[in-house]
Amino acid sequence: MSQQEIILNKPDDMHLHLRDGDMLSAVVEHSARDFARTIIMPNLVPPVTTVEDAMSYRQRILDALGGSGTSFEPLMTLYLTEVTTTYDLENAAALGMVKAVKLYPAGATTNSDSGVRDIPKSYHLFEKMAELGLPLLVHGEVTDADIDIFDREAVFIDRVLDPIRRTIPELRIVMEHVTTKNGIDYVGNADNKLCATLTTHHLMLNRNAMLAGGFRPHYYCLPILKREEHRQALRAAATSGDARFFLGTDSAPHPTHTKESACGCAGVFSAANSLGCLATVFEEEQALENLNSFTSLNGAKFYGLDINEVKMRLIRTSEPAVFPKNIKVGAETVTVFDPGMPIYWHVDHTTSL
Ligand code: DOR
Ligand code: ZN
Repeated sequence: MSQQEIILNKPDDMHLHLRDGDMLSAVVEHSARDFARTIIMPNLVPPVTTVEDAMSYRQRILDALGGSGTSFEPLMTLYLTEVTTTYDLENAAALGMVKAVKLYPAGATTNSDSGVRDIPKSYHLFEKMAELGLPLLVHGEVTDADIDIFDREAVFIDRVLDPIRRTIPELRIVMEHVTTKNGIDYVGNADNKLCATLTTHHLMLNRNAMLAGGFRPHYYCLPILKREEHRQALRAAATSGDARFFLGTDSAPHPTHTKESACGCAGVFSAANSLGCLATVFEEEQALENLNSFTSLNGAKFYGLDINEVKMRLIRTSEPAVFPKNIKVGAETVTVFDPGMPIYWHVDHTTSL
């Protein structure tokens, strides 16, 4: 008989967008329910660039949870801009509350306009981060108009990431939401200073899901979904147990109408059903024994955090789990990730372990 139950240490989501205001209030409970800690992306408008910004954003996240979020720990990041100073970094490291700094190449994705245009000009900041032990999180895509959108990650590795690593080998880096075999191989052949997060949706879908037989805007995200051979490489890495690969859902809510648009926003909201989807992926790959490493151990190890003592149970049922199709945000909705197949696993929220 197939396995019917999995016990995990409560997972950590090492790449999450929560936004602010009404959107934050609507989405945060979904992450707090299933995750103990999350690395919070700083791409608000305006972005989170100082430790003061990070402290007040963290408080807004906790306030949005009211009393129900006492065990949820938002781990804050700073947004690297062209005016970030070594003082900003020292300040952040001294307070200990900022866990990493995010590099968005300007124009690469949602709210990345304040990002960096000329990345070598930030090398002195990377050196300071290496000295302070602050990891660099990269959105690993070049933005050059002449580089095809499906090649932007591979080109980023050659032109941006590899030179950074060669120049500052002590810098700890996370290649966020890696989507290609090139990325997996690059991380796999590197030392353990380089890790990668993988999203739920990139493990479940290839680009046909978005483009074949009609365009499905709710699968549009950045980096964009790739071809099947890349998805297979991601699945092999995620399910291998290799400590360099860990979960970062990149759950990124947008109002439904802004995705169903002539120029739709990039982002998939998967916070509400990621764990059931991931259990399905690991079951398909016959690697359920490695799910806990991916969701709950490897990321904590990279960030130097204790493993969560709280346990969580996932249950396999004979009928598919029912997830909400959307959640309400005021008068609008956010569409929940549709994995495109029945999901038989869900988190058991009825008993505490
Ligand atoms: O699809 C994405 N959405 N990719 C990102 O890098 C940003 C995110 C967002 O903030 O919406
Ligand atoms: Zn993201």
